[in-house]
Amino acid sequence: MFQPPDPVRFQEILDDIVDRMRFETERGAAASYIPELADVSLNRCGIAVAPLGGPVLSSGDSAVPFSIQSISKIFSLVLALGHVGAALWQRVGREPSGDPFNSIVQLEFERGKPRNPFINPGAIVVSDIITLKSREAAENHPVLQLCQDLADDHTIYVNENVFQSEVATGDRNRALAYFMLAEGNIECDVRQVTESYFRQCSIEMSCQQLALATRFLAAGGNDKGASRFGVTPERARRINSLMMTCGCYDASGEVAFRVGLPCKSGVGGGIVAIVPGIASLAAWSPGLDEKGNSVLALRAIEELTRRLGWSVF
Ligand code: DON
Repeated sequence: MFQPPDPVRFQEILDDIVDRMRFETERGAAASYIPELADVSLNRCGIAVAPLGGPVLSSGDSAVPFSIQSISKIFSLVLALGHVGAALWQRVGREPSGDPFNSIVQLEFERGKPRNPFINPGAIVVSDIITLKSREAAENHPVLQLCQDLADDHTIYVNENVFQSEVATGDRNRALAYFMLAEGNIECDVRQVTESYFRQCSIEMSCQQLALATRFLAAGGNDKGASRFGVTPERARRINSLMMTCGCYDASGEVAFRVGLPCKSGVGGGIVAIVPGIASLAAWSPGLDEKGNSVLALRAIEELTRRLGWSVF
């Protein structure tokens, strides 16, 4: 069993990692498809760790909210599994895609059944299930509600400007949804489903809030807050497995090789990593590599887990 270092030493390690990131010259490029993401400074960098049973430790811009984007797919998956359980897997697969997260080609070959819930079409089917099952008003989006509940922080919000930009630039996601509608894998109105998906992508959270909201996955499902949403130990293990194999788009294998932990990234520059039985981590820096994963957030998580010997292997 790994033991975290004492809090003072832990803080020194986090500060050292963030300091080193300041001097990195290879910082990637911010997502450019909407101005709200393109305009965030590449100098931003934060990290937070939420150990089981201990207070959050953090460094750098760890309290600054950023666009969680695809990291929201963890939370929407929790809700959809809570609604329909294993029946979800009749509509969405569990294999890594090896293709970009918004690829249309693969979906056509596979007759409208997305490879996994962490690529866009998979997340859109998940949104379809949530849309069908929930009656909440738009300002009380169920994924937002879940993030607030898990982090025990009701200041977490949807950035309406990001949402409007996602809607304005969302033709490719609507195309994926219409294709799946044609194949019988979408039940609700496509506009409603994609807007629900865009809204969850537009949630903003800090590293500290994200680490807290995902700690239930490190707790292996033995978490009171998450069990209210149907997260059993078995379900937590399976979500972690999917994060390990599919959580970082078509770089999931590379991330597993470098970090050896279940991870989920988003094009806002955030990455969440789970150390089962120990802690959840969140790191953020907006510059992305060509696959859409944050260059410095990944490096920071890699560095931290290497120093602490944290890996599931
Ligand atoms: O769906 C989109 O195109 C954006 N909201 C990007 C979300 C993201 O982080 C990458 N998608 N898997």
